[in-house]
Amino acid sequence: MNLRPVKIAGLATYVPPGLLTNADLEKMVETSNEWILQRTGIRERHIVSAGVATSDLAEPAAREAIREAGLTPADIDFIVVGTTTPDTIFPSTACTLQAKIGARGWGFDLGAACSGFTYALTVGWQFVASGSVEHALVVGADVMSSIIDYTDRSTCVLFGDGAGAIVLSPAEPGEPALIDFLHEIDGSGGPALCMPAGGSRCPASHETIDQRLHYVKQDGQTVFKFAVKKNQEITMALLERNGIAGSDLDLFVSHQANRRIIEAAAQRMNLSPDKVVINLDRYGNTTAGTIPLALADARKQGRLKKNDLVMLASVGAGFTVGSILLRWSL
Ligand code: ACO
Repeated sequence: MNLRPVKIAGLATYVPPGLLTNADLEKMVETSNEWILQRTGIRERHIVSAGVATSDLAEPAAREAIREAGLTPADIDFIVVGTTTPDTIFPSTACTLQAKIGARGWGFDLGAACSGFTYALTVGWQFVASGSVEHALVVGADVMSSIIDYTDRSTCVLFGDGAGAIVLSPAEPGEPALIDFLHEIDGSGGPALCMPAGGSRCPASHETIDQRLHYVKQDGQTVFKFAVKKNQEITMALLERNGIAGSDLDLFVSHQANRRIIEAAAQRMNLSPDKVVINLDRYGNTTAGTIPLALADARKQGRLKKNDLVMLASVGAGFTVGSILLRWSL
């Protein structure tokens, strides 16, 4: 099959207006601004108000990304939504979003936790590259506050809500385009980061609610060690496979879970701080939303320009691992 080059034609993000600061959390659990900042780098997160769901955050991001691509929703013939917090188990958030914006074609949700965006980007890319669809809408969106236990200080300080959307379109020969990807899963890490109840293994019951099993449970140190190791391994492997040195990169845009995880990978690639995007101080970990939010911030700050060589990377629950190398096309 002849694959055609694919470019990013539009990018937009949306976060809800409500803020949850470290000072707010100090009043809710036994924690401190100093502890949170030092261990994670997070200062504040955006949190939805009651009744706001993932598709509500995805919709404005999707509409704006489609507009930037010079398209209308009717031009979109494929939607993939990376999310861990779909509006409902079914129908999928992709279906809900399609109906809201009036896109056509087909689509589905993709569950890869914090690698939701890198996985979804790779999936959308393959469909456009093969010629089976023309314009793909790739969304990373999560309302993490819907599955966080705000009495558990080890997890509630980490997460926020947010969404990002990218439109993928065929690139003309010579135009900056997506270059390469590498993904892995390691299911042995499942118990280290999960939501135990609400699926077929452990359906909702009075007991599951009493035991607070519908919330994120995490062995922080196990996840941290795996993320540090894999974030470095996957980015170095993708560089080597493409004959590129870290110093050739213009920007490193990692999933934003913990400042220390990002800095360890950047150090391994010999990247100076000006080539590393860190914006988790203002958003926390928005799971599938982090990478588009970081790309959008970098662009707004003039740190991401057309033709820049960019590395994306993520590690998430599962475990899921991903990296993508691209030339920025906007
Ligand atoms: N405030 C104050 N103290 C706290 C808090 C808090 N919010 N949370 C935990 N502590 C305490 C612990 O109880 C422990 O106390 P003890 O020594 O008396 O037992 C102490 O702080 C140290 O706890 P650790 O878990 O060892 O702290 P660590 O340095 O590992 O930091 C953290 C914890 C921030 C969760 C870290 O492990 C981490 O970032 N892990 C990665 C997890 C992650 O980012 N997951 C998100 C999704 S997956 C992904 O995106 C990679």
